[in-house]
Amino acid sequence: MDGRGRALLVPHGPIVNYRMREIGVGLLGLGNVGAGVVRLLEENAKAIEARLGAKLVIRGAAVRDLGKERRAEIDSSLLCDDPMELATREGIDIVCELIGGEELARELVLAAIGANKQVVTANKALLAVHGEELYASAESNGVDLYYEAAVCGGIPIIRALREGLASDRIESIAGIVNGTSNFITCAMAQGGQSFEEVLATAQAEGYAEADPTLDIGGGDAAHKLAILAMLCFGTRVELDDIHVEGIETLAEIDYAMAKQHGYVIKSLAMGVRREMGIELRVHPAMVPQSWLLADVPDTKNAVYVRSYALGPSMYYGAGAGMMPTAMSVVSDLIEVGRNLGANATGSMPLRIQRDLPATAVIPMAQLRSHYYLRFTVADLPGTLGKLTTILGQHQVSIANLSQTVMPGDDEHEQVAVVARTHEALEEHVQSALQAIAGAGLLLAPTQLIRIAS
Ligand code: NDP
Ligand code: HSE
Repeated sequence: MDGRGRALLVPHGPIVNYRMREIGVGLLGLGNVGAGVVRLLEENAKAIEARLGAKLVIRGAAVRDLGKERRAEIDSSLLCDDPMELATREGIDIVCELIGGEELARELVLAAIGANKQVVTANKALLAVHGEELYASAESNGVDLYYEAAVCGGIPIIRALREGLASDRIESIAGIVNGTSNFITCAMAQGGQSFEEVLATAQAEGYAEADPTLDIGGGDAAHKLAILAMLCFGTRVELDDIHVEGIETLAEIDYAMAKQHGYVIKSLAMGVRREMGIELRVHPAMVPQSWLLADVPDTKNAVYVRSYALGPSMYYGAGAGMMPTAMSVVSDLIEVGRNLGANATGSMPLRIQRDLPATAVIPMAQLRSHYYLRFTVADLPGTLGKLTTILGQHQVSIANLSQTVMPGDDEHEQVAVVARTHEALEEHVQSALQAIAGAGLLLAPTQLIRIAS
């Protein structure tokens, strides 16, 4: 305003006593993701200020080890080792939980909400296990709880489901949602490296969880599927209801046989709406080479969604790593910052209630699928006959059968018998496998891989 109360006009419009608002951010954790957040806020500061109309200022960062070397430059006076104090400290508007794990993270987020802070988290384990309690607490306190980075790192899949597809009815999702396991299956399919070597690379690059068994055992993907299922189907999912298998039992020969049969092995997280309820499962699957999901390389993630009005749509990008994940976290900070500016925090529904009432998760035994079965047996007369007879007795019909000498077995002592089945009921396949195991034919456990169709 000028001295007579008139707006002062500049080429872009009126500017009235303009002073940049500051929003205080407290980082709980300064590891891979936390360091990325510091870097992005620094490197992209001007654009972020312009998009938000306010300045995001890091007012503190809690770590476990104050003396540790950091991957981002931060004033050491901002560091502390008491995350609870920081989560509730005056001057912090948004608490950014990047510590990981379940219990401490839960206590910190609840305390932050209780202190009327907005919360941004990248922690899928926290939301999959304690989500209901946290959403309820955020709702009753009227604060934001944003979690874009928790699923598929840098891909804005939460926004796509919560906003872009808000009017649609989702029929199914099939996703590669764990970067580490995708990195491993891609490298194993190429050959030349051991499982352990590839995993060590993923750990060194900061993709793997602190406990990498969550990545290779499918637990991390199950956490993400629980969050996605809530958004897609409007149903609360208990982790125990999700069928989970990891990639650790897959052998070189499975990757080679997949290629020979026109497939690529991927660890898939799937949610499918059926008349009786929803199927929820995470397991390695033979994906046809012609599918887009078969082409998802390295640590990339992708989610293929089928919905009633839109039809198929796919969301693809970096699912893990420092900067992609930091990007999602900072975008959440910007959105929460806007909500703070508009006095509209707590207005975004945290769970989407779609048209499904208390949804039953369909037991795995009821799944109908095509199967790849690899039996390790002795190369003796009658073995094939016995195997196929037992499969037939359990209503499992074979579409294709082959026998291969196990790599390195020059004496031909063991062979791999690979059967691809027609569509069969999981219950029947499992009972056939039990009967085969009991028939004394096997030299090693049978490998089962479901074929995506
Ligand atoms: P890191 O292990 O690299 O970092 C964890 C940070 O938390 C460290 O700075 C650590 O301190 C700090 N910390 C741990 N315990 C305490 C404690 N008791 N008190 C204070 N500070 C503590 O994990 P990431 O950055 O990789 O992951 C963070 C979160 O983001 C997790 O929930 C993860 O699942 C999620 N995520 C990670 C992705 C990735 O690609 N890495 C992608 C998407 C989500 P110090 O440094 O001193 O040890
Ligand atoms: N460990 C996870 C992964 C990080 O590999 O996908 C991203 O959530």
